[in-house]
Amino acid sequence: MVSDASKHYPVLLNELISIITPQHGGTFIDCTFGQGGYSSKILSYKNTKVIALDRDIESKVKADEILNKFNDRFVFKNIKFSQLDYLKLKNENVRSIIFDLGYSYTQIKDPKKGLSFDSSGDLNMKMGLNDFSANEVINKLDAIELEKIFKFFGEEKEAKRIVLKIIKEREKKNINTKELVEIIEKTKKRKNFKIHSATKIFQALRIFVNKEISELIKGLITASKVLKKDGVLAVVTFHSLEDKIVKYFFRSLSEKKSISRYMPKLDAPDTIFKLIQKKPITPTTKELKENFPSRSAKLRYVIKKNDVYKFDTDIFDKFNHLIEIENLGNKL
Ligand SMILES: C[S@@+](CC[C@H](N)C(=O)[O-])C[C@H]1O[C@@H](n2cnc3c(N)ncnc32)[C@H](O)[C@@H]1O
Repeated sequence: MVSDASKHYPVLLNELISIITPQHGGTFIDCTFGQGGYSSKILSYKNTKVIALDRDIESKVKADEILNKFNDRFVFKNIKFSQLDYLKLKNENVRSIIFDLGYSYTQIKDPKKGLSFDSSGDLNMKMGLNDFSANEVINKLDAIELEKIFKFFGEEKEAKRIVLKIIKEREKKNINTKELVEIIEKTKKRKNFKIHSATKIFQALRIFVNKEISELIKGLITASKVLKKDGVLAVVTFHSLEDKIVKYFFRSLSEKKSISRYMPKLDAPDTIFKLIQKKPITPTTKELKENFPSRSAKLRYVIKKNDVYKFDTDIFDKFNHLIEIENLGNKL
């Protein structure tokens, strides 16, 4: 089938449904409602309830449509998933919590959001409930700070050269989206014909503006607390930084490391999760044909073994170097 570039496709939907098994009913938390692809599918099964969150208030249009159809089984909250514990979930039988990270097709096509390199006008990149925009980042932070953002959040090898050019250009005037793309295109020496020259810098800015690293870490921790025993925590990631965090979080809370690599791993009853498969689930060839942007999607999941609320994790320490970079935004 030819890909329909004007449509929103919920990524890895069939795979996700087979993991969270909504046919058995219960409460499902969709932390990234978007265009409601996952929520609608879950609600199509009887005896399910969906609590959906999205930081983008514009998702409410779709949420209201779903609410009209399933008003006794659907709730939408315009909050960030790091705020999941604001919800009173004590009496809910939370069987699964889902994250489908990144942005939706509708958001990338919205010129006001400025998420795409084709957007005209000011740099923005705010997905919703933000403190500052990409315009302030590009035009206010100093060279060292910008270089860190591009290097660590975009893995951009030519970060320094691009930053020097930005600093020079912004002395003349405020840089907008089109001008930023031109600066990157003119400055980059190494061309990769598979991806747009500005892809990495745009990814870095989006992560920084939306504090995606600390959002994800806080979201994972809170989700792990409110999930009930035998519940599934499932996350779809789109870039290697996100995937690294999810992979570490799941593995570190699932396994007891053996003292020596020659000794068998202990099946530790005190770990909070059970990791069913170490490798992530990725889209089938059929899905790739229908929805090319799904090519970088990776689905990982764990099952909660114990009904514990409190647990220890070193995830903040492990990724502290990234959180410190995100905190540079606090002064904007
Ligand atoms: C890839 S889309 C989700 C698509 C959805 N699964 C569907 O089928 O329509 C990601 C959504 O997550 C939202 N989002 C991203 N980060 C968030 C956060 N920290 N808290 C709440 N929503 C967030 C975005 O606004 C976007 O609408």
